[in-house]
Amino acid sequence: MEDCKKKKIEDYVRSIPDFPQEGIIFRDVTSILEDADGFALAVDSMQKLLEGVDVDVIVGTESRGFIFGAPIAYNLHKPLVLVRKKGKLPCETVEQSYDLEYGSAVIEMHKDSIKPGQKVVIVDDLIATGGTVEAAAKLIEGLGGEVVKLVFLMELAGLKGREKLEKYDVQSVICYE
Ligand code: PRP
Ligand code: ADE
Repeated sequence: MEDCKKKKIEDYVRSIPDFPQEGIIFRDVTSILEDADGFALAVDSMQKLLEGVDVDVIVGTESRGFIFGAPIAYNLHKPLVLVRKKGKLPCETVEQSYDLEYGSAVIEMHKDSIKPGQKVVIVDDLIATGGTVEAAAKLIEGLGGEVVKLVFLMELAGLKGREKLEKYDVQSVICYE
């Protein structure tokens, strides 16, 4: 029988109304990370979604995707590739612009970070509009990689990121309407 007192991911998430703009409910990842049990539960729950998945490379998106991409790559003993905001990577890059729930941005990857035919899983803390990971997937595919799965801790279903990403296998640990 499941321990009904056992904390779930939802119990660790702090929700802040009207941040960073009026009308946005911000799902704060820091309240998960600042609790050792919360952080472990988050990483373990995301990694569980990768059981049986044939993957060569884990990609994490700046910055909160790094927090979860790194321990998952380490645990699976797979390379970790960083998708960074424009201007941070030192070698030759490919770039892609995209829109977010609030604002827009440009991301980059090193051109040599993905080899043609590699199977890639993208990891991020949260999917809102799906703009960030859609842009990351375009970069990976442009380099010849195959995006086999997208894994998130939190999903904001109302923003319909899944619809934008319907050609991909999208899985999240928890979902907010
Ligand atoms: C947040 C979040 C996701 C993205 C989700 O990152 O960590 O990467 O937004 O939104 P989307 O599905 O609409 O693209 P943000 O760009 O705020 O950067 P941060 O991780 O550095 O805070
Ligand atoms: N990134 C995009 N939308 C967000 C939200 N509502 N809460 C936390 N991170 C986000």
